[in-house]
Order: sequence, then C-alpha cells, then structure tokens
Amino acid sequence: MSRTALVTGGTRGIGRAISEGLKAKGYAVAANFGGNEDAAKQFEQETGIKSYKFDVSDYEAVGAGLAQIEADLGPVEVLVNNAGITWDAPFHKMSKEQWDKVIDVDLSSAFNLTRQVWEGMRERGFGRVINISSINGQKGQFGQVNYSSAKAGLIGFTKALAQEGAKKGITVNVVCPGYIDTEMVRAVPEKVLEIIIATIPVGRLGKAEEIASMCAYLASDDGAFITGATMTVNGAQYIAG
Ligand code: NAI
Repeated sequence: MSRTALVTGGTRGIGRAISEGLKAKGYAVAANFGGNEDAAKQFEQETGIKSYKFDVSDYEAVGAGLAQIEADLGPVEVLVNNAGITWDAPFHKMSKEQWDKVIDVDLSSAFNLTRQVWEGMRERGFGRVINISSINGQKGQFGQVNYSSAKAGLIGFTKALAQEGAKKGITVNVVCPGYIDTEMVRAVPEKVLEIIIATIPVGRLGKAEEIASMCAYLASDDGAFITGATMTVNGAQYIAG
C-alpha cells in the first residue's frame, strides 16, 4: 500500500511541485488549497491528484478536511505544511490584521494540521512532517516582520517537535527555500528581482522542483535519521550557521 501524503497549498507553485514529486514517488497525494476552485479543478485534471479546499488557519475546517482525506485515501503519514502568504509593510505601517493574518496562515496552520495528525502518527510508529519556512525566516527581511516571525517560528516548532517524535518513528524537518521562480516571486517588480538575483551566488532563482526533491528525500525511508534539521535550499544567498 502506498503511503498517504498531504501537501497544504499543494495545487500551485512550490506546493504543486511537491505534490507532483511525491506522486511520482508512489505516494497517494492529497493537495489542499485555499482559494480558486477552477484552478484546483484544472490542477486535478492535469495531475490526477485530488484537491481539498479548506482554510489551514481554521482548526475546525482543518479537522473536517483531514476527515475527508482519511476517508478517501487513508490516514496522513506524510504532512507537508507548505501553504503560506505574505502581506508586507514596514513595521511602522503594519496593521494588527496584517500581523494576525500572516501568523495564522503561515505559523498557526502548522499547529492546526500537525496536531490533528500527530496522535495517529504516534500510534502507527511512523510519520514525516515537513515544514516550509523561508530564507526570510532565517535572516529577517525589511517589510516582513510578520512573515519573518512566522517563518522563524516554524523553525522553533520543528526543533521542539522533532524531539517529541523521535522515539515514535516520526521525523520533523523544516525546509528554507531561497527565492524560487513562482507566482509569489514573479509578483515582485522586475527591477527589484534583478537586484535580488544579483545577491544569489548561483546566479538564478531556484526551481520549485528543487524544493520538491528535498521534500521527497525527507519523506523517504532514507531520511529516517534526519530530524529536527533546517534544510537550506537557496543557492548560497544566505549561509545559515
Ligand atoms: P503560492 O502563493 O504560489 O501558493 C501558496 C498556496 O497556499 C496556494 O495553493 C494557496 O491556495 C495556499 N494557501 C494560501 N492561504 C491558504 C489558506 N489560508 N488555507 C489553505 N491554503 C492556503 O506560494 P509559493 O510561492 O508556492 O510558496 C509556497 C510556500 O513556500 C509558502 O509557505 C511560502 O512562504 C514559501 N516560500 C516561497 C518562496 C518563493 O520564492 N516562492 C521562498 C521561500 C519560501
């Protein structure tokens, strides 16, 4: 029987590449999304991966979504907490709403998802939790106090939870992408993007598939001894100690 994997925000961008990468490795994949139903339908047709709409920042909605996935595909054994948003502003202009929304979607979502699959993973003695953070959670970024806080929070979440999962066959890791060629990054003005690329020693944006292959490795049996780790995938743009 193939293992079941859930990728939040798994219908586009980095999440889509992760969903497709895991499917190619033989997992039964569920791809969650938050927004556009037509786009998700198209994703289903193109990939043959089933999509599930629920808001990762809503604990009850997550519970209902997980129940549906479990009924369709079986219990989630690999969880990729990928869904994320930005809502940038310099701190002196950042509203409470901007702060709360980004913390809820980017950080509390990891609690909402992981907490509700955790006991099952413990009982079965196997689990893989992969959190998608960001280079900007490692180094901080002007205009992103909310996002950098949420993404740094995911690193602490990972380090603490890895210690709790270790004896139960559950690994918990965090992947920190640098700038990846996705819609989120294409929304950045051309001139700003040129400046960003100039700071990447490899000389280009990363590819979503390069994050997906890291996730597939962490999900695999070969990744069993890697837990609590922060995997930096950024073309040497920021070399974390
Ligand atoms: P994207 O904007 O293309 O996709 C985000 C996905 O999250 C979408 O499928 C969307 O439906 C989903 N989503 C957003 N809010 C949601 C909610 N409340 N409930 C359920 N789903 C929700 O983003 P992209 O660029 O693919 O990024 C994926 C992850 O990688 C994010 O966590 C992002 O912060 C992180 N990241 C991205 C980088 C990049 O260069 N694109 C760099 C570093 C980190």
